Amino acid sequence: MTPSAPEHPLRVAVVCLGNICRSPMADVVLEQKLADAGLSDAVVVDSGGTGDWHRGEPMDPRAAAILTEHGYDPSRHRARQVTGDWFDDHDLILTMDESNFDDVRALARTPQDRSKVQMFRSFDPVSTPGDDEVPDPWYGGPEGFEHVLRLIERTSDAIVANAPELVTELAR
Ligand code: 4NP
Repeated sequence: MTPSAPEHPLRVAVVCLGNICRSPMADVVLEQKLADAGLSDAVVVDSGGTGDWHRGEPMDPRAAAILTEHGYDPSRHRARQVTGDWFDDHDLILTMDESNFDDVRALARTPQDRSKVQMFRSFDPVSTPGDDEVPDPWYGGPEGFEHVLRLIERTSDAIVANAPELVTELAR
């Protein structure tokens, strides 16, 4: 039996702690790569943070600068906090590190909610169980942001390559 067409695009959220560095970078990069692949109507992306300190703020200037340097547009981002009702509006919630993973799973109300949460780098072709995080660059220098962008671009390429299967499996 062929699966019926989904009623809506695959709705993906990327999540970190503050929603001003890692997850907004992943949001912008993944969205751009989906657009470049002609998949903007099939997969929609947004982002949030588990903490509330930066709600309403634009991206960290260091994150915005590295994105601009690499040809992405960071200007539209405003930080938001993840709440339990995000499970109603998303098919897949991708977390940057293990503590984000635990914090988002703690917001889940049902086993089905919990099953929507995965590590972002679970899609990275070279991740391993001991190396599956996008590390927090907040306290470090610009090289940390370079490293984060490399991880995000590689993982986003893999998500785009898997997008047709993900839409079929997860969008309802
Ligand atoms: P993010 O980075 O989780 O990648 O957005 C951080 C941003 C802010 C803070 C920590 C991490 N903070 O402690 O305010």
